[in-house]
Amino acid sequence: MMNDVDTLRAELLAEVDGAGTLDALEQVRIAALGKKGRLTERMKTLGALDPDARRAAGQALNTVKDAVTMALETRKTALEGTALDARLMQETVDVSLPTRPEAKGLIHPITQTIDELTAIFAEMGFTVAEGPDIETDYYNFEALNFPPDHPARQDHDTFYLTPDANGERKLLRTHTSPVQIRHMQQTPPPIRIIVPGRTYRSDHDATHSPMFHQVEGLVIDKTTHMGHLKGCLIDFCRAFFGIDDLPVRFRPSYFPFTEPSAEVDIGCSRAGGGLTIGAGGDWLEILGSGMVHPNVLRYAGIDPDEYQGFAFGMGIERIAMLKYGIPDLRPFYDSDLRWLKHYGFVPIAQPSVAGGL
Ligand code: DAH
Repeated sequence: MMNDVDTLRAELLAEVDGAGTLDALEQVRIAALGKKGRLTERMKTLGALDPDARRAAGQALNTVKDAVTMALETRKTALEGTALDARLMQETVDVSLPTRPEAKGLIHPITQTIDELTAIFAEMGFTVAEGPDIETDYYNFEALNFPPDHPARQDHDTFYLTPDANGERKLLRTHTSPVQIRHMQQTPPPIRIIVPGRTYRSDHDATHSPMFHQVEGLVIDKTTHMGHLKGCLIDFCRAFFGIDDLPVRFRPSYFPFTEPSAEVDIGCSRAGGGLTIGAGGDWLEILGSGMVHPNVLRYAGIDPDEYQGFAFGMGIERIAMLKYGIPDLRPFYDSDLRWLKHYGFVPIAQPSVAGGL
């Protein structure tokens, strides 16, 4: 009997030592200590022995059980260490490998400019909203207070789609302003949004592209007035161009969706045939703005006796060209790698107001 138990002990411990993986070790444990394990089966035979023999055999088997349990524990810890080492080896990164400069991507100036102006307006509490490129006449014109035969409609050189089954003639939005209406219909005031996006007009030359980008701004609450419009846009211009004393001028203008309306010019110098942004006696128009027309608020379901606010819109290519000295509009969409390499931005340099733009 004793010999027999010693043999069992030796065999089980050998199996534990021989297990090469955690899975194999688990199989060994089940085969020894599981419900139908060899040791368990042996324990079951104890009941048939007389009391003295049962005590002796029971003690012997318990010693084996303890030894096997301990061996299993030790082996498990060792195998876990091996598994971790193997994984770490596999996940090793060779930091001495050379980088591949030819695979470097750059941020397009349009994306960069959108990121920059988003950082500036986010700092002022604006969030970003979006709307569809394909619009209805209602959102692009009518709800923005362009009456059906208003001459300002002609200024927009609109691309129209083929009328659909209901006879409705959709269009490619000519500006980002329709998102003002869509947003006001969905979100109760107070509102403070910017809307960067693509816009389309049938116009193509050195300074016009049939597809271009605008950013719209909209602020609606109960007390916002023209002074806020001016402060907000002066701060924006100075932050965007990085010139603290940049002269900014508000010039009376006309848009159907704002009253009063103002175009915004920044100071520049054209001395010597070049163009320098900053003080210099000359002016350069960069955006349109105004107090949201009461009719527009009504179209959007907002009571103009309770709410008011301002809006603005500007061309993203234009401000990018001015800031980065890009002379021609057309290469923006040519995907010419030489141009992208020259005017692109390094991806890890995320624009932020604190970090500088
Ligand atoms: N939508 C105008 C355009 O495309 C730009 C604009 C002017 C937008 C004044 C505005 C604004 O929100 O208030 O020319």
